[in-house]
Amino acid sequence: MTDYIAPLRLGVNIDHVATLRNARGGALPDPVRAAKLAEEAGADGITAHLREDRRHIRDQDIADLMDALEKPLNFEMAATDEMQAIALQYKPHAVCIVPEKREERTTEGGLNVAGDDNRLAAYIDPLRAAGSRVSLFISHEPDQIRASARIGAAVVELHTGAYCDFHAEGRFAERDEELAKLRDGAALAHSLGLEVHAGHGLTYDCVTPIAQFPEVVELNIGHFLIGESVFRGLGPAIAEMRRIMDVARDGTAQ
Ligand code: PXP
Repeated sequence: MTDYIAPLRLGVNIDHVATLRNARGGALPDPVRAAKLAEEAGADGITAHLREDRRHIRDQDIADLMDALEKPLNFEMAATDEMQAIALQYKPHAVCIVPEKREERTTEGGLNVAGDDNRLAAYIDPLRAAGSRVSLFISHEPDQIRASARIGAAVVELHTGAYCDFHAEGRFAERDEELAKLRDGAALAHSLGLEVHAGHGLTYDCVTPIAQFPEVVELNIGHFLIGESVFRGLGPAIAEMRRIMDVARDGTAQ
């Protein structure tokens, strides 16, 4: 009997189209246009992170994306009252809660669910009641995974940043250790009834082993794809990622 492996969705994060726009001021390049193109090129959903400092995506982008998208929006946000109110206003398909520090360049670590479970449980309740799937961006630590299941999250997104960094730096023993922990984390999360996503730092070079975890059903990828689009165009950059993910999932050699 062949084991069923769920299809692997690709969520394209368009934050850095907004980064580029904001570098100049004005309206170009338009993140909504990028999102529409991503939909056409094979993205299964669009991810956008409205940060407290609005350094890339802005409030109006979220309104425009909600109007324009045909595929689901995964709205990334910190667990603040301001962001909860915005999520409740738009009721996106998914809300992914991430830790946020003003001084960081990107989301550096996972959410401390185990250390903040009472507050987070109360925080996510209205989001769930509004119909958004709540996803928590966490490390592969078993305590964080168990706490996420305990407080009633639908999804965990496992932070692949350290794995990708070790890969890029050629630190292969550490990369493989990290990969093993991610693999165990994905299996644990799945066994607890959580839907498992993964993301951060993924590139053509390092996506395959993550795409091969049978429990992972969605990857969220942004910075690399937007950078790669400078060279090959956004549609082809996404299509190539889609191809590599599909090959990985099929178990066919690349
Ligand atoms: N998933 C989450 C929860 C993130 O915060 C980010 C970065 O905003 C990503 C995925 C995408 O990471 P990257 O831009 O490195 O592909």
